[in-house]
Amino acid sequence: MTDDHTHTHVLDFFTPRAADWDSRFPDDGPAYAAAAGLLGLRPGDAVLDAGCGTGRALPALRAVVGPEGMVLGADLTPAMLEAAVRAGRGASGTLLRADVARLPLRDGALDAVFGAGLISHLARPEADLAELARVVRPGGVLALFHPIGRAALAARQGRTITDGDLRAEPRLRELLAGAGWRLESYTDEDDRFLALAVKQG
Ligand SMILES: C[S@@+](CC[C@H](N)C(=O)[O-])C[C@H]1O[C@@H](n2cnc3c(N)ncnc32)[C@H](O)[C@@H]1O
Repeated sequence: MTDDHTHTHVLDFFTPRAADWDSRFPDDGPAYAAAAGLLGLRPGDAVLDAGCGTGRALPALRAVVGPEGMVLGADLTPAMLEAAVRAGRGASGTLLRADVARLPLRDGALDAVFGAGLISHLARPEADLAELARVVRPGGVLALFHPIGRAALAARQGRTITDGDLRAEPRLRELLAGAGWRLESYTDEDDRFLALAVKQG
């Protein structure tokens, strides 16, 4: 695995935040459950939570694919995965230390990928989104989610959003198209960001 400056940045950012991650956002559960319900998953399907962190989405993803389904959670930051284990999230899915740029999965293995709070942390978003497309079957779904909208998040962080923002709709549509996805729906409200895309091919 390459551990270039970007990965160092991710580890430096998330390692000290891991232990408190869930307690900082105690009310997000219903939003994750609602988002998981919009992926069109059916019992028995296979889904990856890319950049799963402490695995907050895993119980909701397990609920939609059922006991026969496959739920994977992949993250680069060991401390986030350790927090996931402590929180019992391993009961809902298999936790992997992996870079979304290089997933240990065969082509088309999955029905869907869920990525919450992930895309703005990717160093090579188009290449990484293309790797996510590789592991999803044609017609499968990618959900890019955040339990807060872009403007509300920027205000919380003392920033303003611009059209150059990776998650601005035209930019995201183009980025996804270049990576093998077609943007199907885009929601950016105060309490939810959700972009749903379908794997082409
Ligand atoms: C904002 S956190 C969100 C965590 C979780 N999805 C949630 O909603 O609580 C972003 C996560 O993405 C992970 N991450 C960032 N870049 C990654 C990469 N290239 N491969 C895998 N995980 C990555 C970080 O380690 C971190 O846990």
